[in-house]
Amino acid sequence: MGPRRATKADLHDVEVLLQSYSIPVGGIHSEAVQFHVSRDKTGLLGCAGIEVFGDTVGLLRGIAVAERARRAGLAALLVSALVADVRLRGIATLVVGTKTAAGYFSRLGFTPVDRVAVPPGLLASREFDGASFGDTPLLKADL
Ligand SMILES: CC(C)(COP(=O)(O)OP(=O)(O)OC[C@H]1O[C@@H](n2cnc3c(N)ncnc32)[C@H](O)[C@@H]1OP(=O)(O)O)[C@@H](O)C(=O)NCCC(=O)NCCS
Repeated sequence: MGPRRATKADLHDVEVLLQSYSIPVGGIHSEAVQFHVSRDKTGLLGCAGIEVFGDTVGLLRGIAVAERARRAGLAALLVSALVADVRLRGIATLVVGTKTAAGYFSRLGFTPVDRVAVPPGLLASREFDGASFGDTPLLKADL
């Protein structure tokens, strides 16, 4: 139940969950993107991923919790598990792009950041595939 690192066997369910909320799935099978997941016996409850750029910056992506598991703190737990993992690898800053959940990430300590202030490579993530990417608000948190 508790968050754990995803294995390849989890990724199909992750993709299905993300697609059900229209969250981009481009590149999620690549080794550059690592997920934490939580499951129960009936399936995937939630997921949160990170794509690392350079040595110190990570893009938080692919965060979703199934309706039946919402408002129990699961998304916060998944993000905490990811943060603990990447801190040990030297990641010092997390960025997230969201059109619908800026308020949620503010509660987790993220603050708005200008596009020019994030590494250009990060903006090339497949998370941002699609014509309407240009106006996706970005937020960041220093760990
Ligand atoms: C956002 C999401 C991951 C939160 O999952 P969760 O496990 O229910 O989150 P938590 O239990 O940690 O926190 C729940 C709180 O966040 C709030 N919240 C949920 N979605 C929110 C949003 N889009 N904006 C602001 N607050 C939000 C809830 O109202 C709840 O508030 P409360 O504690 O005052 O009742 C989940 O609602 C979801 O999967 N949404 C659809 C996909 C999505 O928007 N993903 C983020 C895209 S970047």
